[in-house]
Amino acid sequence: MTDHIICRVDEITEGKAKRVEIAGRVVAIFNLGDRFAAITNTCPHEGAELCHGRIAALVNADAPGAYRTEDEQIMVRCPWHGWEFDLASGRSYCDPSRMRVKIFDVKVTPGERLAEGPYSAEIFEVRTEDDYVVLTI
Ligand code: FES
Repeated sequence: MTDHIICRVDEITEGKAKRVEIAGRVVAIFNLGDRFAAITNTCPHEGAELCHGRIAALVNADAPGAYRTEDEQIMVRCPWHGWEFDLASGRSYCDPSRMRVKIFDVKVTPGERLAEGPYSAEIFEVRTEDDYVVLTI
């Protein structure tokens, strides 16, 4: 697993998402205000980009008219047909045992810590043989 620096925190507006391509994957990173969440950007239904979906807390009801919002369970609604996915688990609301999107670890790291590294360059063995320089990869 490799950390990838995406952007400054203030470059993703609260309640919105940023689409990024990392190592051949397209990922939607959401700013939930007090935390960030990252999921595969492609909806498993017909492929809409989930970064364009609206986010909202899950709403539950114990009885008609007695509803409550689950502030810790934030869902993204697909912009095409409205399927909803939990941003913490990736599970869909309609079929949580079978339908899901992949989730990724995302964290906020102070810039000072990023400047510390560790950074390392890839090292290759080089040797000379007669008149040739040979690089071993
Ligand atoms: S493409 Fe996402 S619900 Fe249809």
